[in-house]
Amino acid sequence: MRLKAAEHGEEGMLVAVLASRIVGAESIRWSQGCDPPNPWLYGLQVAAEFRGQGIGRSLVRAAEELGRRHGADHMSLDVDVDDARAIAFYEALGYTVVRHHQHHWRSLDPRTGAVINEGTAPTLIMRRLLR
Ligand SMILES: CC(C)(COP(=O)(O)OP(=O)(O)OC[C@H]1O[C@@H](n2cnc3c(N)ncnc32)[C@H](O)[C@@H]1OP(=O)(O)O)[C@@H](O)C(=O)NCCC(=O)NCCS
Repeated sequence: MRLKAAEHGEEGMLVAVLASRIVGAESIRWSQGCDPPNPWLYGLQVAAEFRGQGIGRSLVRAAEELGRRHGADHMSLDVDVDDARAIAFYEALGYTVVRHHQHHWRSLDPRTGAVINEGTAPTLIMRRLLR
């Protein structure tokens, strides 16, 4: 499994590649996340048939390494309040819940960029010390 990183402006993306297939991905926002001034990890997903093999952990650790290189002290993210599996996953990786949050989300039309739908979801902000 190989990890590939791409950065553009305030956004970064990491993908996990196995046998020419993307099996996992995540994004990082270097500013304007939900827990400033910390970088914001979001959209982590591992393809269902490749879960439980350490790919999620490797992606998060690689994002943290990028964060260190950007000079960050912490990595932050949020999870839905009722997503016990995601909370357990991030706790296993050393993240702790720091506060409740109301996450404002938007769905955009990929062609036009127009907002299709938007709303607010109650989440928990989790954070890990990087140094
Ligand atoms: C959460 C997710 C990214 C985990 O990816 P993964 O590749 O299966 O995770 P890993 O194999 O790297 O597991 C890393 C550690 O977390 C633990 N873990 C993984 N999934 C877990 C779960 N559902 N509950 C509790 N612990 C879990 C593992 O036991 C492992 O710990 P260990 O190494 O000490 O045994 C994957 O299940 C997924 O894509 N889920 C759907 C999307 C999602 O929930 N994303 C996160 C919220 S945004």
